[in-house]
Amino acid sequence: MKTKIVNYPDMIKARDRSKGSTNFIMGKSEHLEEMKALAKGKKYYIHTYGCQANVRDEETMRGILEYVGYTRSDDISEVDVAIINTCAVRENAEDKVYGEIGNLKKYRKINKELVLAVCGCMVEQPEILQVLLDKFPEVNLYFGTHEIYKLIDLIYEVKKQGTKIVSIESKKGEVIEEELPAIRNNKFKAYVNIIYGCDKFCTYCIVPYTRGKERSRHFIDIMNEVRDLKRLGYKEITFLGQNVNAYGKDLEEGYDFADVLEEAAKMGIPRIRFTTSHPWDFSSKMIDVIAKYDNIMNFIHLPVQSGNDEVLRKMGRRYSRSDYLNLVKEMRKKIPNLSLSTDIIVGFPNESEEEFQDTLSLVDEVKYEAAFTFIYSPRKGTPAAKLEDNVPYETKSRRFKELVSHLERHIEEDANKYVGTIQKVLVDGVSKTDANMLSGYTETNKLVHFQGDESLVGEIIDVKITSSHTYSLIGERVDG
Ligand code: SAH
Ligand code: SF4
Ligand code: F3S
Repeated sequence: MKTKIVNYPDMIKARDRSKGSTNFIMGKSEHLEEMKALAKGKKYYIHTYGCQANVRDEETMRGILEYVGYTRSDDISEVDVAIINTCAVRENAEDKVYGEIGNLKKYRKINKELVLAVCGCMVEQPEILQVLLDKFPEVNLYFGTHEIYKLIDLIYEVKKQGTKIVSIESKKGEVIEEELPAIRNNKFKAYVNIIYGCDKFCTYCIVPYTRGKERSRHFIDIMNEVRDLKRLGYKEITFLGQNVNAYGKDLEEGYDFADVLEEAAKMGIPRIRFTTSHPWDFSSKMIDVIAKYDNIMNFIHLPVQSGNDEVLRKMGRRYSRSDYLNLVKEMRKKIPNLSLSTDIIVGFPNESEEEFQDTLSLVDEVKYEAAFTFIYSPRKGTPAAKLEDNVPYETKSRRFKELVSHLERHIEEDANKYVGTIQKVLVDGVSKTDANMLSGYTETNKLVHFQGDESLVGEIIDVKITSSHTYSLIGERVDG
């Protein structure tokens, strides 16, 4: 099979914000009508790994595919297009993807028409793309995180020309979401991108290489989206960015992230959340806005990564332990009942026992209400991956367990404090663990299970908490 590398620079140039409708960019597709004919009665499969940025990309891909007439299916044996949307942040994320492609490749033999596509962050790294190309000749379409807008033309070319296509844009400059359709995965909770990419270049992290430079969406575009979501009855929005605090710094519009939060809060969406915020440029103005509006949730995800100054410096995190603790102090002082969560990496190259103990003592001081913990995973192409590492994996593994046990002690104590209180819960759906129960989240992002009728899904209701586990609460609905 031939491999064709395609690029469509003209399509980006042709973009015109003043006309900015869905039809405009979709209309730029050279093969829209042919694809509508080809997609008739056909289905697609899509599986997304990784963070909310990828989930939001999946929604755009769904929007594009359903715009030309495809419908969704979870049964790959009946689909015409199968897409695996990958994550490269840690090795185990990649291993899952290799496993899934290994399972799916046989369907190319069964169905010669199948477009088997791999996209997302893994294909943005040349070495990984090469591994994928060598290992899985069955995959006939690869496209990067900035090629989603071309999806239907790419599918068309694979189908019509029988070529394998690799489309990775080297220059990631523009925000092109405004003209793309999207089908949201949830009817009452929505992700709203505000800034793409990342310029922080933490030394361990692959994201700046897979997602490109920081690019903010125009303030007006964000607010129009929020207004639409409000009108459609959405109960919760989450502003997305690798670092939402950097919002607006690359534009000359004079708005920052605190302005985004405040303007959205005034529009009256019942719940506003955001992720992720970097401690380095978390401003007092942001804290004040969060404190001022009841509909901005008192829950902040504030990744610390390490509690030791030397490790933080080597990670390129731009703050010290005391900077971080001072920020937490200001937040806790100004925002009542604040719930804090974090990300921590254990076993950064050459991390000593003392340095690790600093992380434990920070955890004991902050007493996080939730946390994500990771064992450091070297990412080819990042500066940290070049460091020699003298810490054996068993040591990292032992430290990881120790850290989790410290965190869980605090998380459990915090969960216990909810017992006897009444919490506002946005009902998500039927509980994953018990079909007789519903589940939802408190304002502080605690998972709650309780009995109730499915008609409550999507509503915010009062639930009295009767008992607690480490990672969830049990309650009963308070009538009225
Ligand atoms: N932009 C976010 C993080 C996105 S990645 C932020 O800066 O907060 C999510 C988390 O994955 C990071 O916070 C970090 O804890 C973890 N992570 C990133 N690269 C990693 C690596 N190479 N090894 C282990 N964990 C990593
Ligand atoms: Fe990665 Fe750091 Fe950017 Fe977060 S801020 S995405 S950890 S480089
Ligand atoms: Fe993974 Fe890419 Fe997100 S590497 S964490 S999917 S930005």
